[in-house]
Amino acid sequence: MSGPLVVLVGPMGVGKSTVGQQLADRLGVAYRDTDDDIVAAAGRTIADIFVEEGEAAFRAVEKAAVLRALAGHDGVLALGGGSILDEETRGLLAGQRVVYLSMDVEEAVKRTGLNAARPLLAVNPRKQWRELMESRRHLYEGVATAVVPTDGRTPEEVTQAVLDAL
Ligand code: S3P
Repeated sequence: MSGPLVVLVGPMGVGKSTVGQQLADRLGVAYRDTDDDIVAAAGRTIADIFVEEGEAAFRAVEKAAVLRALAGHDGVLALGGGSILDEETRGLLAGQRVVYLSMDVEEAVKRTGLNAARPLLAVNPRKQWRELMESRRHLYEGVATAVVPTDGRTPEEVTQAVLDAL
C-alpha cells in the first residue's frame, strides 16, 4: 500500500493533532497535518481564510493540500475535519488505512467550547455540532477502516487504542 502509514479523520477538536503526533512518535515515523500545511502555505490562520475568502475557497485550498499530502507523505497524516466532504478525496482514501476518531456531542462541546478559532462552531456550538455530524458521520464511517471512540479517554489512551486497531 502506498501513501501514509495511517490517516486520521474525524471532527474538529477530537484530538487528531495530539494523537497523530503521539502515534507518529510511537511508530517512529513523521507526523503531518493538512491544516498546518494550509496555514504555512497561506501565511494566515484557517479562521482568517474562512472570513476573508469564504468556505468554498478554503475547501479548494484544503483539497489541494490533502491530495499533495496523500501522495507525498508516508508517516501519520491527520486531515482537517471537513476534508472528507470532497468526493475525490474520499475515493483516494479508499485504498488507505484510515482511522476515524469519534466523539459524542457533550465531549465535543467540552473540548471545542465557543472557540472562535473554529469558524464552524462559533455561533451555537451544540446545535452546529449536531448538524455537522448529521451530514458527515456517514462520510467518516464510509472512509474508515477502524473507528476509535475518544469519549472520556486521554490522548494517550486514544493513541494506544489506535495502535491496537492497526
Ligand atoms: C473544519 C475543521 C478544521 C479546519 C476548519 C474546518 C471542518 O480542522 O480545517 O476549521 O470543516 O470540520 P480540524 O478538524 O483539524 O480542527
